[in-house]
Amino acid sequence: MKKSLHVIIFLLICCLLCTLVACDGTSGADAGADKGKLPPTAPSNILVAYFSCTNNTKGIAQKIADATGGELYEILPSQPYTQEDLAYGNTFCRANNEQNSVTARPAISGSVQDMAKYEVVYLGYPIWWSKAPKIIYTFLESYEFAGKTIVPFCTSGGSSIDGSLPEIQALATDATWLSGRRFNSYDTEAQIKEWVDSLIMTSEETDGEKEMTEEIFLTIGDRKIAVKLEKNAAVEALVELLKQGDITYTANEYGGFEKVGSLGHSLPHSDVQMTTKAGDVILYNGDQIVLFYGSNSWRYTKLGTMQGISAEELKALLTKTDAITVKISLN
Ligand SMILES: Cc1cc2nc3c(=O)[nH]c(=O)nc-3n(C[C@H](O)[C@H](O)[C@H](O)COP(=O)(O)O)c2cc1C
Repeated sequence: MKKSLHVIIFLLICCLLCTLVACDGTSGADAGADKGKLPPTAPSNILVAYFSCTNNTKGIAQKIADATGGELYEILPSQPYTQEDLAYGNTFCRANNEQNSVTARPAISGSVQDMAKYEVVYLGYPIWWSKAPKIIYTFLESYEFAGKTIVPFCTSGGSSIDGSLPEIQALATDATWLSGRRFNSYDTEAQIKEWVDSLIMTSEETDGEKEMTEEIFLTIGDRKIAVKLEKNAAVEALVELLKQGDITYTANEYGGFEKVGSLGHSLPHSDVQMTTKAGDVILYNGDQIVLFYGSNSWRYTKLGTMQGISAEELKALLTKTDAITVKISLN
C-alpha cells in the first residue's frame, strides 16, 4: 500500500515536470530578468563552481567555463548521492529529507584553493523542490564572498531559478548577486556564450560606471556624514534626483535599531534578504530611507554605507530625539 502510494506520488511529479518542460517550449534556456552586469574580468579571477548529481548542471558548467575561461570547481559531497538518495518520488529519500530540513548542511569533500583571488563566482546547481540543494548552502557558508559577484545558474525539469534565489542570497549578503539563469541540459555552447557575453559590460557601460557618483552626504543637526554608494538602479535614480536639489525629510524611530522616513519619491528597487548593520543606508519599499544604528534582517535594497562615524556616535546622533531631520545632498 505504502509502496504503491510512493509510485503514484512519483508519477504525479513526473507528469508535473513534463508539463513544466512542455511549457518551456522551444525557447531553450529560460531566465529570471537579468539585473546588473559584470565588469570585464580576467579569466583567472573567475570561478565556475557547480554541484551536479546526474551531470546536467555539470555539462552547463563546463560550457560556462569554456566561454569565460574561468576555473571549474565541482562541489563534491563527502557522502555521494546514490540513485536511491535522489529518488524524490520517495517522500523520505535523502535528498527530500535534506530539502525538508532547515538546518541540513551536507558536508563537502575538499575546498576551493585560494577563494580570495576570485572576483566572479558562477554558481550552478540542480533545482530540488524549487530550491537549491542544501549542499549549496554549505558552500556559501564556507567562504567569504564580500566584494565578489555571484552569478547563479541551474538546470531543472522545468522549474525556474527564481524560487531558489532568496534563501541562497541571504547566505552571502555582502556579495553582489546577478539574477541568474536556468538552462536545459541540451542548451548549446553558442546559447551559453551569448548569455555569458550579455553579462559583461560594454566599454561604454564601463565608462559610464567610472563617471558614476561614488558618495553622497547626510546632514543631521550639525553633523555631515559621507555615504559610500552601492552601484545599482536605486542609487542611480537617487543621484539623478539629487542633481535637481538637496532632499530634506523627517525620519522617525523604529524598533530600537533604525530611523525611517519617506523620501517623497519612489526609486527602482531590487530587494534581497539581508542583515543590516550600523551605518547602512537602505531603501525600504522603494520610497522609505532607513538609517541603521542597529541591525535587522529583511528584504531591502542597499544604497550605501556611512563613513567616518562609529556605531556609538551614530546611535547617539540618531536617537537624540524621536524624530530627526535629515538632509541628503551631492556635495
Ligand atoms: C530531489 C530532487 C528534486 C527535484 N525537484 C525538482 C523541481 O522542483 N523542479 C524541477 O523542475 N526539477 C526538479 N528536479 C529535477 C532536477 O532539477 C533536474 O533533473 C536537474 O537537471 C538535475 O541536475 P544534475 O544532473 O546536475 O544533478 C529534482 C530532482 C531531484 C533529485
